[in-house]
Amino acid sequence: MINKNLITIDGPSGSGKGTVCHILAKKLNWHLLDSGALYRILAFVALQQHIELDNHVELTELALNLDVSFKSNGTGVDTLISGENVGDKLRTEIVAQAASQVAAIQAVRDALLARQKAFYQMPGLIADGRDMGTVVFPDAPVKIFLDASAEERAQRRFNQLQDKGFSVSIAQILSEIRERDFRDRNRPVAPLKPADDAIVIDSTSLSIDEVVDQVLQLTNLKLNLTVE
Ligand code: DC
Repeated sequence: MINKNLITIDGPSGSGKGTVCHILAKKLNWHLLDSGALYRILAFVALQQHIELDNHVELTELALNLDVSFKSNGTGVDTLISGENVGDKLRTEIVAQAASQVAAIQAVRDALLARQKAFYQMPGLIADGRDMGTVVFPDAPVKIFLDASAEERAQRRFNQLQDKGFSVSIAQILSEIRERDFRDRNRPVAPLKPADDAIVIDSTSLSIDEVVDQVLQLTNLKLNLTVE
């Protein structure tokens, strides 16, 4: 099957992908796949069950049997593990680092592949991740790689955490971002990199609206739509 109404947006964390994907999914009224959430969920459950993050066999088994669902709640999406809403618990730095570790295991990625592909449903899909355009949906007609400097991404994360009332060090955030980037970009399986046919957008000095406009212009052009 050729996936026609499909936009893949890959890039490092903090590039603005998540927000851009949510806005696009709303504007186009398409489905949304937050593939990072799947790796975070797997890591979260593994930590809860005290499964070692280098135990490929148990992690793969867990990945194949995860009981996960996503439900729209009006303002965003609730993530349910075995029916329980885990919300912000997936957004901690500990879970992020663990997600990046489990995501480096080929068998785990294979175990999550069919689940990700199944998100493609009419009328269309916005797929957010690291390997959406390279591995999961290689025939997507619109592929974006959204990047930003590590310093800018650290500043954005710092602002977010400050808004939530956390006291954090920007130097610490920058070093965690660099550590995770290094692992995601240099792993032998499905490394974070633009697909050969992806359009690279550098969001370092762009607003979210400017990025959304650029993606929409490209989508309208490629898919013959007129969405504003
Ligand atoms: O996008 P995120 O920060 O929620 O992703 C969490 C981790 O999962 C990230 O370090 C890399 C990994 N990931 C991946 O390897 N492939 C994806 N398609 C999405 C996320």
